[in-house]
Amino acid sequence: MTEETWIAVDRFFCDHLVPSDEVLDAVLEESAAAGLPDIQLAPNQAALLQMLARLQGASRLLEIGTLGGYSGIWLARALPEGGRLVTVEANPHHAEVARRNFERADVLHKVDLRLGPAADVLPAIAREGGDPFDLVFIDADKRSIPLYFDWALRLTRPGSLIIVDNVVRRGEVAVASSANEDVQGVRRFIQSLKGDDRVQATALQTVGTKGYDGFAIVQVL
Ligand code: DHB
Ligand code: MG
Repeated sequence: MTEETWIAVDRFFCDHLVPSDEVLDAVLEESAAAGLPDIQLAPNQAALLQMLARLQGASRLLEIGTLGGYSGIWLARALPEGGRLVTVEANPHHAEVARRNFERADVLHKVDLRLGPAADVLPAIAREGGDPFDLVFIDADKRSIPLYFDWALRLTRPGSLIIVDNVVRRGEVAVASSANEDVQGVRRFIQSLKGDDRVQATALQTVGTKGYDGFAIVQVL
């Protein structure tokens, strides 16, 4: 089985299961034109994230790593009136593109876009003392996943979901001796879950238009 097969299957699924959406197409074009990396979620992955937010009945969502706002739009669309997506982006150019994209998708009124390194912004959010988040999506620099996960635990409640993107690292996650800091970040995160009785966790490998990858889903107990 080749990558071509995975891509063809993803296309078939997306063509039939993910409604075409001119706004999201424009958002992806805008992000590409602005030079953002093409690493946003595939449409069928984004649909899963949105479904999980809906299953949570979520009114408060936290995203770490906004990029151009693609996944943020899917998340914001899961929110009821009055719901809020707080999304954190360290790169000012990415944040500017995302703001335009949120506006284009008519979700900006539901989005609280915070510019700055998550290592600074997450403690600030905690100090504000708002209600816990129903779902947290961690999709930023991989070496800091343990830190972001730690904050996610502090900012959630029993029943909340924490979803961590890109935990496969082209399979290198299974290589203990990897010299890659991002791989080691993911490894430390996964290893930390062992015996952590605050959560139930699983992780899945995926293939498709985004290549070979995967995500972890954690529920706070
Ligand atoms: C990378 C980061 C991502 O968030 C992603 O979805 C895919 C790849 C990366 O850093 O390579
Ligand atoms: Mg990602």
